[in-house]
Amino acid sequence: MEKRFISFSPPDISDLEISEVKEVLKSGWITTGPKTKLLERRLASYILSGKTDIDCDSTIETSEYSNRLVCLNSATAAEELNFKILGIRPGDEVIVPAYTYTASASAAIHCGAKIIFIDIQKNGDRITHAPEMDYEALEEAITSRTKAIVTVDLGGIVCDYDKIFEIVERKRHLFSPLESDKSPLGDLNSRIQRGLGRVAIVADCAHSLGASRTFKHVGHEHGKDNKKIYCGEIADFTDFSFHAVKNFTTAEGGASTWNLPQSVYDLGITDKEIYKFYQLLSLHGQDKDALSKAKVGAWEYDIIGPWYKCNMTDIMAAIGLKQLDRYLGLIDRRSQIISKYDEQCDRLGISHLIHHTDYMDSSNHLYLIRIPELDENGRNKVITKMAELGVSTNVHYKPLPMMTAYKEMSGGIDRYPNSYDYYHNLITLPLHTLLSDEDVIYICDVLNKVVNE
Ligand SMILES: Cc1ncc(COP(=O)(O)O)c(C=O)c1O
Repeated sequence: MEKRFISFSPPDISDLEISEVKEVLKSGWITTGPKTKLLERRLASYILSGKTDIDCDSTIETSEYSNRLVCLNSATAAEELNFKILGIRPGDEVIVPAYTYTASASAAIHCGAKIIFIDIQKNGDRITHAPEMDYEALEEAITSRTKAIVTVDLGGIVCDYDKIFEIVERKRHLFSPLESDKSPLGDLNSRIQRGLGRVAIVADCAHSLGASRTFKHVGHEHGKDNKKIYCGEIADFTDFSFHAVKNFTTAEGGASTWNLPQSVYDLGITDKEIYKFYQLLSLHGQDKDALSKAKVGAWEYDIIGPWYKCNMTDIMAAIGLKQLDRYLGLIDRRSQIISKYDEQCDRLGISHLIHHTDYMDSSNHLYLIRIPELDENGRNKVITKMAELGVSTNVHYKPLPMMTAYKEMSGGIDRYPNSYDYYHNLITLPLHTLLSDEDVIYICDVLNKVVNE
């Protein structure tokens, strides 16, 4: 077997992205502007329809996909703004799985909330093997202080939102919405919480753009029964990541979207108002963006809150527009690689994520395997041996209670035995669209050799 060098997750950037970026660089407008607004409408149309080729090139205000999604500079910023729109503040509790990346928890901490960590199900979900929360423990953890649950579609596999919606509905009686402090944002927060009347579901879909699931019942939208619904249209609030290692990249970048029940809109809230607050929160609380200020005589602006700076630039959006043109092909190619890995892992008796079932299609983001009868040390040796043979692998994730920042806050990893168990023999194989068929065969051969040794 001739040695190959396989990187873990390089970005797949074609000449299309390069020429679109060049066009923006030459256009005289490189920060947030028309490309970002177009990407927002096109991503919204993808999430709502599953199609990437809907013509959204109409004016911002008239497109049915306007004011539905906000592009930002990361998923972390997107999650934090989701909490700011929801009104998360000190005194609130936010429930987060112990098995995730730090951003799922840190965004709520930045808003002053207390994190309540929840262990995962033993060996993950029964069918997909994804490290999903223990839903009984989740239900027990909801108190009168709980304002949000962060769900994580890890690896691109969509959580069981049927179950999560049922849980928050059953706990409605414990929920007390925030009182308005009469400020414009505080008033929006209060109306959203009153309209929801229950704990909010805030999805961390950093991995799951394009993933979908068929629901029996999606909380508030009965019309969606037994329909295939895409991430972004499932939870109350969602964040996506377009970081360099993700399926869909803008180098760094992310997006927020929301899908609120009619009872919220009945309180006079519109998507336009929500969108406006995301814009304000992401751009210093300034009531005009750079493009609006650039219009003749329109220099003057107000600052309505001392807020954040996390907008997307048109250079990033240019990459995203061309990634979106290619995206359905990219996730199909990932699916082909996954089928090859599935065959090899099944032959070797290695447990792996199931990315496609009759009710769910993942975005095919990560391929997690768990090698039986290995301790942590043995797992690390497999990683080193595979690297020596040229195959880079990774671990998603070391549970948060094992991290310095979270040890004390969580009470330590001993309280999350299923998370530790899931992690201790886990390896993430390379899964990306620069892998050739020969690379995939090589990775399978290396896995076979190292595991058998
Ligand atoms: C599960 C999860 N959530 C959130 C993030 C944060 O994404 P970003 O780097 O775009 O802020 C990541 C990044 O890898 C992630 O894996």
